[in-house]
Order: sequence, then structure tokens, then C-alpha cells
Amino acid sequence: MTNRGVGIGMKITGMGAALPEKVITNEDLTAFMDTSDEWIRERTGISQRRIGGTTSGLAIEAGQKALDESGVDPLEIELLIVATTTPDYIMPATAPAVAHELGLDCGAFDVAAVCSGFAYAITVAQGYLAQGLTKILVIGADTMERITDYTDRGTGILFANGAGAAVVEADETGEGQILGWDLGANGKYVHILYSEHDDTMVMDGKEVFRQAVKVMRQSTMKTLEMAGLTVDDVDIIVPHQANVRIVESAWKKLGFSMDKTLMVLNETGNTSAASIPLCLDRGLSQDRIKTGDNVLMLGFGAGMTWASVLLRWNGITTHTAGF
Ligand code: COA
Repeated sequence: MTNRGVGIGMKITGMGAALPEKVITNEDLTAFMDTSDEWIRERTGISQRRIGGTTSGLAIEAGQKALDESGVDPLEIELLIVATTTPDYIMPATAPAVAHELGLDCGAFDVAAVCSGFAYAITVAQGYLAQGLTKILVIGADTMERITDYTDRGTGILFANGAGAAVVEADETGEGQILGWDLGANGKYVHILYSEHDDTMVMDGKEVFRQAVKVMRQSTMKTLEMAGLTVDDVDIIVPHQANVRIVESAWKKLGFSMDKTLMVLNETGNTSAASIPLCLDRGLSQDRIKTGDNVLMLGFGAGMTWASVLLRWNGITTHTAGF
């Protein structure tokens, strides 16, 4: 396979995270549904989640932190991409309001690929860098609370709100770059996870689990093939945070180790498009990402959609404003 788009230098020069204040613990959920803290932790890896806020509000907070860290003037940002599946409005998209509040003066649009959204958006940013842009703000933000029935034992234990943002810049040195990527979608599986207008999510949890493990493995192999690398060459893995057992099952098949894996699910629940940038934010705060590391972002979600991106890291390696 040819290295499509590979060779375009990219680095992340600022990260930001935002979580609403209201914490819902597993214990809190027992007031609404027949469940227990032990069951949820064992079956999902989640202890608590956050609700409240708006998608644009969380996106603005995360975006501001990322801009502050990068030192990039808002007027230098040439494009804003907001990955979200819970926009404030059906129209307009969330991105224009976020751009306005952040003081940007550039094109701004949403990408809707549900929990794969941030990884999708990074590949979109790569395409614009290839067209000559040099500074792009990419935000993943969702308020899944708005489409979650917290009395439903399947979805109510999983989903929550949050946002994560990254300032993505061209890397003239080429040291930082996407080495391989893969996007996928299979509409045959729309019915296993969906939400109609003004309604809450419907999910076939077992089938989502099965498909997620499958597509994570397949997508990783495609991305590694494009990069000409193997599983052992991946230094840090940033999987979508849905269920720790999904990650463990996929890793068993792939041969990845949990030691190389960034996880925040325990504290955040499934924040959809925000989960990968929240993990990156946490990984940087813990000094887990070094220059030259091959960082694999791996998303999957309703659609089904999936996306994987292998980024050789040449961006920030210290981060003090983590959540
Ligand atoms: N609390 C306590 N018991 C529960 C429960 C809950 N929240 N949910 C289900 N149960 C019970 C069931 O009633 C069943 O009981 P039974 O054996 O007496 O019939 C048992 O636990 C097992 O149910 P099951 O549905 O098989 O559980 P599971 O192991 O598949 O876990 C999910 C359910 C939703 C946690 C799991 O399927 C999952 O995480 N799927 C992926 C979902 C996902 O990630 N979606 C987002 C993708 S982006």
C-alpha cells in the first residue's frame, strides 16, 4: 500500500482538557437503576463520570487551554475542526460559535464520526496541512448526557461529557509526522448503536463489544502496514475509552500491552469524541509521551466507524494544565 499523505510533518504543540464539575459515581447510579459499583467497575472499568456543561462550552474551555499552552495567537489559527456528535444545535455546527469565543478568524466546521471523531479529525487536519495550512485547532467535545437514559443499565453506566483539544502545527523538520492511518465505516451496523432526534441512545452492547474488538485489530494492522512497522514499534497507544474489557480483548489479539496504553476511563466514562484527547492530555501530564515515540490513536464508535492514526511524536512532552 502506498503511504497516502505520509511525509507531511505534524506536531501537537498544545493540549487542553475540560470536564464538567458534576461527578456521578457508580454508587450514585444505584439510585436510578438496579446495578452496583462492583458490577460496573468489573464489567467496564468505570468508577465515575462527569455530566453538565454544553458541548460548545466544554470545547471552548479545552480549546483555550490548548491555545495558551501552544503560545499560538488565536488569529494565527487557520482552521478549527470540532469533532462532536452532540452539537449544541442541529444547525449551525458547533465550530463557528467555538471559533468566535476563542477569537479565531478562520474556517470552522464539525466532524461527526461519534467516538471515532477525534481520530477522524486528525486525519482531516493532516489533509489541510498537506494543502499548506500550518496551524489548526482540533477539538473533540461531547455531552453524551443529552442522549443518555441514566435509568438504562446498558448505556447509563457508560456515557458522559467532556472535551479535549489539540493545537496541530506543521512540522517543517518532518520529525513529527503521521506514519500511517486508516479510516473505516460500516453502515450495516447502524442499528447496534444509534439515537433518533430528541431521543436517547439505543445500544446492543454485546454486538458493539464484538465489532469494536474486531475493528480495532483490523484498523491497527492496516495502519501499521502503511507505516511499514509492527506492533512492537508502537510506543504509546491511545484507545477510545469505552470499556476496559474491549481494550484488553483487542490487545490480546494484537499483542499490545496495557503498560503502553493510556487510560482515563475510570474517571471519565465514555466521553465519545473527547476520550482520545483527554487520554493524550493525561499521558502528557504524566510524562508518558517522549519525542520520537510512535503514538497510536485508535477510535471506534457508532456507525460503525473506526479510525487509527500513528503519529511519530515531535510535539510537547511536558504539560502542566492537565485535568
Ligand atoms: N448492572 C448490573 N447488572 C447488569 C447491568 C448493570 N448495569 N447490565 C446488565 N446487567 C446484567 C444483565 O441483566 C445480565 O444478567 P443475567 O445474566 O442475570 O441475565 C448480566 O448482567 C450480563 O449482561 P450482559 O448484557 O451480558 O452484560 P455485558 O457483560 O455484555 O456488559 C455492557 C454490558 C454494556 C457493559 C457491555 O456489553 C459493553 O460495554 N458493550 C460495549 C458498549 C460500548 O462500548 N458502547 C460504546 C461504543 S463507542
